[in-house]
Amino acid sequence: MELESKHILVVDDEISIAEILSQFLRKKGYKITTASSGDAALGIIHATDIDLVISDIKMPGMSGVDLLKVIKLERPEIQVLMTTGFPTLDTAIEALKLGAVDYLTKPFHLEEIGEKVKRAFSNRKMEEENLLFSRLVSLHEVTKILSLTRELDDLHKKFLDFCIKMVKADGGALFFTTADGKLSPALFQGVWTQRTFWLNRHIYSSSLWVANSEEPLVIEQGQSPLPGGVHPIPPEVSSLIALPLKTPSRTIGVLNLARLPGKERFSSLDLEIINVLSSQASISIENVRLYYNIHDNYLKTIRAFALAVEAKDEYTHGHSENVMKYTVILAKHMGLSDAEIEHVKYAGLLHDIGKIGISEAILNKAAKLTDGEFSEIKKHPELGARIISDVPFLKSLVPMVLHHHEFYNGLGYPNGISGEVIPFGARILSVSDAFEAMTSNRPYRKSLPREVAFKILFDEKGKQFDPQIVDAFLDVMQKEGNIGV
Ligand SMILES: [Fe+2]
Repeated sequence: MELESKHILVVDDEISIAEILSQFLRKKGYKITTASSGDAALGIIHATDIDLVISDIKMPGMSGVDLLKVIKLERPEIQVLMTTGFPTLDTAIEALKLGAVDYLTKPFHLEEIGEKVKRAFSNRKMEEENLLFSRLVSLHEVTKILSLTRELDDLHKKFLDFCIKMVKADGGALFFTTADGKLSPALFQGVWTQRTFWLNRHIYSSSLWVANSEEPLVIEQGQSPLPGGVHPIPPEVSSLIALPLKTPSRTIGVLNLARLPGKERFSSLDLEIINVLSSQASISIENVRLYYNIHDNYLKTIRAFALAVEAKDEYTHGHSENVMKYTVILAKHMGLSDAEIEHVKYAGLLHDIGKIGISEAILNKAAKLTDGEFSEIKKHPELGARIISDVPFLKSLVPMVLHHHEFYNGLGYPNGISGEVIPFGARILSVSDAFEAMTSNRPYRKSLPREVAFKILFDEKGKQFDPQIVDAFLDVMQKEGNIGV
């Protein structure tokens, strides 16, 4: 029977009254402990799990109202029923205001007490269910927000903030496991933001234990014994949760949450909620890390391709990197999204990849190219497009690479398309590529001064280049003065 698990503490300085109440409630199936003073009651509350306190108001020493105040401060989850032989409306109201669940007057009607005790427990159950429901709703929203966060630092901060709020902790810390198996501090939030506090052996020892055992740990002030190697928590903390951050394949770190003295200790529900949140967050963190890994490898591969082209031609050394930089400046100025900027950035690096298939003799020729040689050179956009179209993660760059030599007026190559038919990214590349080429040395000519290059771009508006893009380029290059690349 559920009642048997409920533990009631009866507090009354009149032993006979405490005894009558105890006998009656024991018969109803409750577990009963008695105390003859407020101080004795507090000692029992600190040492035992109590669900309900029935306390007399008028007692020598600590009064029932004072006891109620301490209970609501330290253990607000405990229900308190007040009893008194001197009923006044004021004391009743004061007790209820302070959080008592109900009020009984002496002499008792035992059946009335039975009813009120039952009601106190059913109220508590409803409160817990409501609390659980609202926490589950928040949990659902929070995990959704975490799964949509793409910046790692932002994700760590949101995760720790949510944990602190959801279990009303006073502070928290995140540690991550490094490649050599050590724990590295990543973030501290709340009242303890000093690194030294969390790296203090009293706290850090629990993180180490959790990282090694991959099991959660909840420690109370004064708790004994503690798992091997774990130090007691320092006096400025009353309760500590240390939880492993686990993905399906490994443990990536440890989450710590702590409460100040005087606060309710962490409950099993708190631990459960943090457990769910941590599992979701760990997966989100691992996903973002994987994304950045792939992203880094992607960029390294593209750079290697670009360098392979430049290795064939000393004059174009650094050309692709510079085109990329101009392209990013231009794309940002034109208000492209982060994803679009990323896209044109890589195309900037790779636009001339097709030159890998063109003879070095032609690429490095100082004299004027023959028509035949120029026809050869003109093959590089198609060649480049063909090379990258076979690489799944580069496929999306094909239209930009293929059309970066098209003219706005349709007189370019390879397809002679014009205006808006030319992919937007290719029109951007065309301007940054031309500017970079004009302002650097070539086998057949010296670099042009930037002002001359600006003038040529301006004159070619609507001919070689998209007028809007030239305007934007001139604007950003001149407005911000000398953007060194
Ligand atoms: Fe090109």
